[in-house]
Amino acid sequence: MYKKTLTDIDVNNKKVLVRVDFNVPLDEHQNITDDTRIKAALPTINFLLKHNAAVILMSHLGRPKGEIKSTFSLEPVAKRLEEIIGKKVLFAHDCIGDEAKQAARDLKPGEILLLENTRFYPEEKKNDPDFAEELAALGDIFVNDAFGTAHRAHASNVGVAKYIPSALGFLIEKEIEFLNKALVNPQKPYTAILGGAKISDKINLIDQLLDKADSILIGGAMMYTFLKALGYSVGKSLVEDDKIPAALEIMERAKEKNVNFYLPEDTIVAKEMEEGTEFHSVPVNAIPDNMIGLDIGILTVRKYAEIIKLSKTVIWNGPMGMFEISSFSHGTKGIARAVAACPGITIIGGGDSAAAIEKLGFADKVSHISTGGGASLEYLSGKELPGIAIIPDK
Ligand code: 3PG
Repeated sequence: MYKKTLTDIDVNNKKVLVRVDFNVPLDEHQNITDDTRIKAALPTINFLLKHNAAVILMSHLGRPKGEIKSTFSLEPVAKRLEEIIGKKVLFAHDCIGDEAKQAARDLKPGEILLLENTRFYPEEKKNDPDFAEELAALGDIFVNDAFGTAHRAHASNVGVAKYIPSALGFLIEKEIEFLNKALVNPQKPYTAILGGAKISDKINLIDQLLDKADSILIGGAMMYTFLKALGYSVGKSLVEDDKIPAALEIMERAKEKNVNFYLPEDTIVAKEMEEGTEFHSVPVNAIPDNMIGLDIGILTVRKYAEIIKLSKTVIWNGPMGMFEISSFSHGTKGIARAVAACPGITIIGGGDSAAAIEKLGFADKVSHISTGGGASLEYLSGKELPGIAIIPDK
């Protein structure tokens, strides 16, 4: 890692302000339904505690639009962190102002304080310099470990770094190390599996992949835009009509660059996107006019699984179908199984594909699951992430 990291700075007896991404999903009773992101921050937190630092954590949660909303409070996260780490986690009901200042001032080496949601202030997303300076005043050193937020240029992950010495934490270091295995000289054959609803979200990633991957396997609703571009009728399936020229261009460029570009052979169709609805498997050239395509079919799963099995590097971004509904989850499950069985380096982008692989119980069978959906997508697309760029080089 060419950027300064935790091991390049002296944290002994310092107040270390750490930006983490504790943007975790909560149910209607404020229960945390997935604590992966909290656990992912533990190596950095434990290192700091062990090296006699006072740890001040800050994060956003959800999109409260610059207003104080109790449903977006980080207080449940403080409790969960306390359970996981087995140590008291103090909580400040504000991220700046007197309460935060006092709590930070009183914090001793070996203690942990979590500040309230930084997005309760509109200044956070505007990367307001005064707000950033107030946050920075709470610590002696800033550590950015919020990989999931690294594609945003906000006050708490970018602005603060201008005021106090800064470094990256272990989570960001690990994410970059793994994502680079796909981005920089990937071991070949290199296969990318792309799903999700829209081509428009993935165009930059596809551009990168056309230069690096040997095979691109398409699934998810985006397949119907490609199929329509090739002249197939896709019934009532989701299609981005304005992206048809882009889809044609992608397939043309794949041919020129000798990248094997695979579209599904069969698809699951139904009249409604609902649990319990009747569904059928049809070849992609026989999608009925009154049906919606909602998953890849079994023949496609088998074919893709063969390609995945022989790959030395695999990245997977986006589910193969509407996997939240069990009738349309078989494609995603089949691909998850194939990726889990692949002996090569297997990297799962954050967001839906990460949720799918975890839900299916294959989390420990892949090389890396990114904690950042948007961030991993942008990083793998070759973009510089502001939250990393702002940290000084070693
Ligand atoms: C995420 O969950 O992708 C990150 O926490 C960033 O959240 P945002 O998309 O609301 O900026």
